[in-house]
Amino acid sequence: MEILAFGVQADEKPLIERAFQGHHEVRGLHVFLNEDTAPIAAGHEVISTSVNCDLGAGVLESLAAGGTRMIAQRSTGFNNVELKTAERLGLTVARVSSYSPHSVAEFAWALAMAVNRRIVRASTRTRDFDFRLDGLMGRDMHGRTAGVIGTGKIGEAFTRIAHGFGMRLLGWDVAENPACRDLGMTYVPKEQLLAESDLVSLHVPLLPETLRLIDGAALRTMRDDAILVNSSRGGLVDTAALVAELRAGRFTGVGLDVYEAEAGLFFLDKSLEAIEDDTLARLVTFPNVLVTSHQAYYTADAVGQIIDTTVANVLDYTEGRRSENVLVPRS
Ligand SMILES: NC(=O)c1ccc[n+]([C@@H]2O[C@H](COP(=O)([O-])OP(=O)(O)OC[C@H]3O[C@@H](n4cnc5c(N)ncnc54)[C@H](O)[C@@H]3O)[C@@H](O)[C@H]2O)c1
Repeated sequence: MEILAFGVQADEKPLIERAFQGHHEVRGLHVFLNEDTAPIAAGHEVISTSVNCDLGAGVLESLAAGGTRMIAQRSTGFNNVELKTAERLGLTVARVSSYSPHSVAEFAWALAMAVNRRIVRASTRTRDFDFRLDGLMGRDMHGRTAGVIGTGKIGEAFTRIAHGFGMRLLGWDVAENPACRDLGMTYVPKEQLLAESDLVSLHVPLLPETLRLIDGAALRTMRDDAILVNSSRGGLVDTAALVAELRAGRFTGVGLDVYEAEAGLFFLDKSLEAIEDDTLARLVTFPNVLVTSHQAYYTADAVGQIIDTTVANVLDYTEGRRSENVLVPRS
């Protein structure tokens, strides 16, 4: 059988092809799945999708009409998939429920430290042989307070690094993680975490309850000199409200690996186009903001695990097995 994989990065292509060898043919497409590209899937029983593919009702209807029966999502988050519609249409959906949480946690720290120590600005200056330090002053992390919103697998890995820096640890989650408590984390109400943290890092999934968790009120609760890092999902932050706070001169730094309107932009080369998204365009003009293109997971280790699990998910489907990765089982 030929599996059609959408949203495949150039680095990923040979890895996917090698992983499926001996099992199935795979055709990796650079394009993302959406209403326009869904017809390409016609005749493919199994497709694979990535985080910025649109798996809303319309696209799922179109896939089902074209003969697709199984979707293997190559990510942990599945907020882009309308599971109820998939179930109604008899589409099996699987995801990668876990892979190296260190990939994302380490990247979140890279963002935090880059904005704290002005690394991007420093690099731009030294390339220009401008060796002044003016404006590059950062702060020690040691002794400061890290607020971790969501202390699951990634939040825990982030907390271990914060512990290594010698930080005071505050956490907020619906379920407390004993490993984080053992590191000295104190679970507090969200407002207290926001008010007391020098660094706030987001690691909860995007759900109806967490949509715009960091809204204008939450941002105003944060310290003026705080650092905010979002490596989870863009929809957790009200970006327009964030821009308003940044315009007011607040926050030492903001590191965003995700953006609520990233679909159609992130992973693509838009360098020669007029950017229509004024919020994103404004965001990247702030000297204390660093935006990356949803790359926190992008390590050889994590991508290898994602691909291996995707192959296993497809084989589970073809051979009639269930696993914890299945979001909508085979009907
Ligand atoms: N930027 C990237 O490349 C990238 C890669 C992988 C994952 N992610 C994001 O990171 C998120 C976290 O991943 P993980 O592996 O740590 O997941 P996880 O399931 O291990 O942890 C999520 C935590 O959030 C908590 N939580 C869930 N709903 C909550 C709510 N309503 N209020 C408060 N806490 C709540 C859970 O109790 C859990 O502790 C994913 O959902 C995904 O959105 C981003």
